[in-house]
Amino acid sequence: MSILGHGIDIVETARIRHLVEIHGQRFLDRCFTPSEQAYCNRNPKRRFEHYAGRFAAKEAILKVLGTGWSGGIQWIDIELIREPSGQPRVILSGEALKIALSRGITAWHVSMSHIETHATASAIGLAGENI
Ligand SMILES: CC(C)(COP(=O)(O)OP(=O)(O)OC[C@H]1O[C@@H](n2cnc3c(N)ncnc32)[C@H](O)[C@@H]1OP(=O)(O)O)[C@@H](O)C(=O)NCCC(=O)NCCS
Repeated sequence: MSILGHGIDIVETARIRHLVEIHGQRFLDRCFTPSEQAYCNRNPKRRFEHYAGRFAAKEAILKVLGTGWSGGIQWIDIELIREPSGQPRVILSGEALKIALSRGITAWHVSMSHIETHATASAIGLAGENI
C-alpha cells in the first residue's frame, strides 16, 4: 500500500446554509446523493454541519484527484457513506472513479470534523488496496 495523494479542505457552514436557502433542493441534488441527504437531514439542528463536512470531504478528494471540477467530475460522483461505527467511507463513480483508477488510486482514507461554524476534512488516496 502506498500513499498517492493527500488533500484537505475547510468550509464555512453558513456558506452551505446560504446555498441551500438560495438554490434549495436543486443544490442538494447536485451536490449530495440521496443517502448523503438522508443522513444529513436526520438531525435538523446540525444538518448544515453534516452537509458542510461532506462538502469539505468532496473538495479534499478532488485535491487528491488533481483535476478540479473542470475534469468533468460531478459532485455526486463522490459519495461519503457511513460505516456502522460512524467512520466515513468513500464511494466513487463516473468520471471521479475513472480519474482515480487512471492515477492508480484504489482506496481512500477520509476523515471529517465539524462544529457549528466550520467543517473540515482530510482525504488520502492509496494504491494497492481494493476499493
Ligand atoms: C468519532 C467521534 C470521536 C467524533 O467526535 P466529535 O468531536 O463528536 O465529532 P466531529 O465533528 O469531530 O466528527 C464527526 C465526524 O466524525 C466521523 N466519525 C464518526 N464516527 C467515527 C468513527 N468511529 N471513526 C472515524 N470517524 C468517525 C464522521 O465523519 C462524523 O461526521 P458525520 O456525523 O457528519 O458523518 C465520536 O463520534 C465518537 O467517539 N464515536 C465513537 C463511536 C460511537 O460512539 N459511535 C456511535 C455509533 S455506533
